[in-house]
Amino acid sequence: MASGQDWAFETRAIHEGYDPADHHGALAPPVYMTSTFCFESAESGARRFAGEEEGYIYTRLGNPTIDLLERRLASLEGGEAAAATASGMGAIAATLWTLLRPGDRLVTDMTLYGCTFAFFRHQLADFGIVVEHVDMTDQAAVEAALSRPAKAVFFETPANPNMRLVDIAAVSAAARRAGAVVIVDNTYATPLLQRPLALGAHLVVHSATKYLGGHGDLVAGAVVGDGELISRIRGTGIKDATGAVISPMDAMLVLRGLKTLQLRVERHSASALEIAGRLKAHPAVSQVLYPGLPGHPQHDLARRQFTGGFGGMIALELTGGREAAVRFLNGLSLARCAVSLGDAETLVQHPASMTHSTYTPEERAAHGISDGLVRISVGLEAVADLWRDFEAALAA
Ligand SMILES: Cc1ncc(COP(=O)(O)O)c(C=O)c1O
Repeated sequence: MASGQDWAFETRAIHEGYDPADHHGALAPPVYMTSTFCFESAESGARRFAGEEEGYIYTRLGNPTIDLLERRLASLEGGEAAAATASGMGAIAATLWTLLRPGDRLVTDMTLYGCTFAFFRHQLADFGIVVEHVDMTDQAAVEAALSRPAKAVFFETPANPNMRLVDIAAVSAAARRAGAVVIVDNTYATPLLQRPLALGAHLVVHSATKYLGGHGDLVAGAVVGDGELISRIRGTGIKDATGAVISPMDAMLVLRGLKTLQLRVERHSASALEIAGRLKAHPAVSQVLYPGLPGHPQHDLARRQFTGGFGGMIALELTGGREAAVRFLNGLSLARCAVSLGDAETLVQHPASMTHSTYTPEERAAHGISDGLVRISVGLEAVADLWRDFEAALAA
């Protein structure tokens, strides 16, 4: 099996864990599209179930195509192991159902993707888990929250949708002192631009639906990190609690997407930086939230924490507020009005009425998600074409 500790990121994204010689010379890894695996004998099947014999049993427990994806994701994030899942929410739910018990305390940031927020507020909380939101841009508030025992700490950076950044090293150090497992949602940055495990996190979760897949044709997720934790998440959170197993076909599509991750994310980042700068200078725009702009309140942290560009996501406010945001979305013709992100197509959406409508208006106000905010996932089209489209929509 091919493996190169000293291979560069883009080389590992293409070759890690696969040798054509093991598969009849097939250049592209075969897709093991099977639900189950045949045992040579009843005794062999029993030994596999007992963990006394190597070998596959059933695809919810393991599959060679999924294994290859997991190996590649572990390598790219710098983790010991990974577990791929049916969706990003599958990864988050499987991880937290594995780690938490009634009465445990989960400390999380103010701003989270809408369904993650809903899962914490309406599922974990209903099952007796204490969920506490803390402003993780304020280290004193983090230290205060973690002066009491916590089982887990969870945050996104950059956060969806308002691009808040969390200092991964500082929060992870405080969380480790409190004995908490640190989980970072790295969906926005991707392992090309940010490696939370190297900065002190225990686990990284992804919506692989986004940049990792990169083509808007699948829903998938993953959790990467410490080998012992991953095997517990696989054995409990995925196998028993959620059943959120990825299809081998989707695993193949994510593997295909990973081969161009570096090229795509470099281009997303360069285009987003250019567009963010132009938006900032536009009179119809009152605020642009993009960590690569020197005016971003956490630009210094962004420069320290990102290991290349600043990603393809932009948030902005229009001077005309929510109504102007709706007119802007309806005025676009090249960029698509759609949720999701990280695709070749530029996608624009209104979080308050779409991805973050899981928050009540009061919760959005308290959690820093304004009603006028527009979220742009800058795609791979030519900047000149996109800018023409944005200018025409802003004129509306
Ligand atoms: C930051 C973030 N985390 C997790 C998810 C959930 O991922 P999925 O839609 O693949 O379940 C999303 C989806 O938009 C997201 O943006």
